[in-house]
Amino acid sequence: MAQHPTTGFDLEQTDLLLKTTKQVRKRLDLTRSVPYEELLECIDVANHAPMGGNLERNRWMIIDDADTKAEIAEYFAAVGRPYLAMNAEVRADDRSTKVIDSATFLVDHLHEVPALVLAMRLDRVPDGSSTGAYAGYYGSVLPGVWSFQLAARSRGIGSAWTTFHLEHEAAVAELLGIPPTVTQVCLLAVGYYTGDSFTPAPRRPAADVTYLNRWKQPVQ
Ligand SMILES: Cc1cc2nc3c(=O)[nH]c(=O)nc-3n(C[C@H](O)[C@H](O)[C@H](O)COP(=O)(O)O)c2cc1C
Repeated sequence: MAQHPTTGFDLEQTDLLLKTTKQVRKRLDLTRSVPYEELLECIDVANHAPMGGNLERNRWMIIDDADTKAEIAEYFAAVGRPYLAMNAEVRADDRSTKVIDSATFLVDHLHEVPALVLAMRLDRVPDGSSTGAYAGYYGSVLPGVWSFQLAARSRGIGSAWTTFHLEHEAAVAELLGIPPTVTQVCLLAVGYYTGDSFTPAPRRPAADVTYLNRWKQPVQ
């Protein structure tokens, strides 16, 4: 156990959680529902993520009604299917093919996923806002989505981050009774995962993507 000398955290465990929380699609158990208590625990963890001004303006919706999921799945597929088909043609490397295959599986099965969790924010970023305003806006809600995924993963619950349905945000808002002043930012497909381990994805070494004091100057 690689326990940190001052914090006491087991770094092996915490780093493993952070590196192996993957988007789970094919390994979602479509036959087993996830209790609301478990989802609320994950949302509670998510609500501890950083948010600009410490304003609690994020909202969540759990969607497990079969007809509602089916309707959302249609909007999802209307965008996801052509997008993934187009990408399959232009991105034929192994890594892309795997992601496209997995994402296509989710397009085909979204309506069967035990729960969809929709992350929202109570207001809308004004059109034409500055880069800083966009960063502050989305930066106040998306860290919570990631915290949800981490909390879920450590409870045996897999999730997949999706955005395809956002092209039909207004129609989905109407379906769900969400006021037009609210922004949807992410739809998580959620279910217990099958199997018991995940492998960290290959990523470029930190030193390759980190600069020191000046653009492209390496950290020695
Ligand atoms: C902003 C954002 C939008 C995404 N949208 C989708 C989506 O609509 N459908 C999907 O299957 N995956 C979606 N993903 C998941 C990415 O494909 C995935 O994170 C990436 O392939 C890396 O895989 P990993 O997270 O399992 O390491 C999205 C991820 C992010 C951060």
